Amino acid sequence: MDWGMANRMARLIPGGRCYFLAIDHGYFQGPTTKLERPGETIAPLLPYIDALFCTRGVLRSAVPTTLEKPVILRVSGGTSMTGKDLAHEAVTTSVEEAIRLNASAVGLSVFIGSDYEHETIVNLSRLVNESEPHGIPVMAVTAVGRELEKRDARYLALATRICAEQGARVVKTYWCEEGFEKVVDGCPVPVVIAGGPKCDTEREVFEFVSDGMQKGAIGVNLGRNVWQHPQPVAMIMALRAIIHEDVSAAEAQEVFESAKAEETRAARAKTDAPKPDMPKGDTPKAETARIDRPKAKVW
Ligand code: 5RP
Repeated sequence: MDWGMANRMARLIPGGRCYFLAIDHGYFQGPTTKLERPGETIAPLLPYIDALFCTRGVLRSAVPTTLEKPVILRVSGGTSMTGKDLAHEAVTTSVEEAIRLNASAVGLSVFIGSDYEHETIVNLSRLVNESEPHGIPVMAVTAVGRELEKRDARYLALATRICAEQGARVVKTYWCEEGFEKVVDGCPVPVVIAGGPKCDTEREVFEFVSDGMQKGAIGVNLGRNVWQHPQPVAMIMALRAIIHEDVSAAEAQEVFESAKAEETRAARAKTDAPKPDMPKGDTPKAETARIDRPKAKVW
């Protein structure tokens, strides 16, 4: 592996483990709940991530240019929730653009078993052909569109292996209750776990991430179960502890509870703090220092 590729991989996966924060959902879902203003959503989470997974539009409009964490650029798309088939994706962002944006990796979806299986596998292989000469790793996403019931070990093992065979350096796939170790064992490159729709409890998230890590995953690429949770910082701290400190799901729950208590205490202290006197006639201004509030409304 050349130095550039090795350096990018080492920054993305420090110590062999990773928490990738996924905020790419808008590329086919539009303004997803809690991601309407991505800059505000991610600001408190950035210190805890290893990399950010997003599109070029969100990167440019909502992510500070001072970001020190690596970026994985979502480069596939071309479909929407209202369209006929979510699998009908193409590569929408060039490798040249990824380089201009200082991306550390690129990511795209492959829809194995769909009507667009061939096209999306070829999208992946072409992207690998174009990215590798620049030392840029490709993360393949084994996507199922609306067919969430497809996510069993047999299907996921097939999909992840095909992505690795095409040259993906990392494969993102779903966790499954039965046989996830077979998915990881059959994939010759590192596997990261996707989050999926929001779970009912935080403990469920800790359990599946912990189980997936024990069965060989190197980390997660997870979004909604963190930023749609009422305590996103406590969630990400607990998940980080599972990934980087090998804590169990029960211990992660403790990390979560104490971070939540701290967050609540800090919020209460802020509310209870005496307010400075306001001169008559002055109207309090809403907080407006938002990097994702461009002059023209784009969200
Ligand atoms: C959407 C994606 C997301 O990155 C992935 O699904 C992770 O996000 P979440 O944890 O919210 O499912 O690839 O196509």
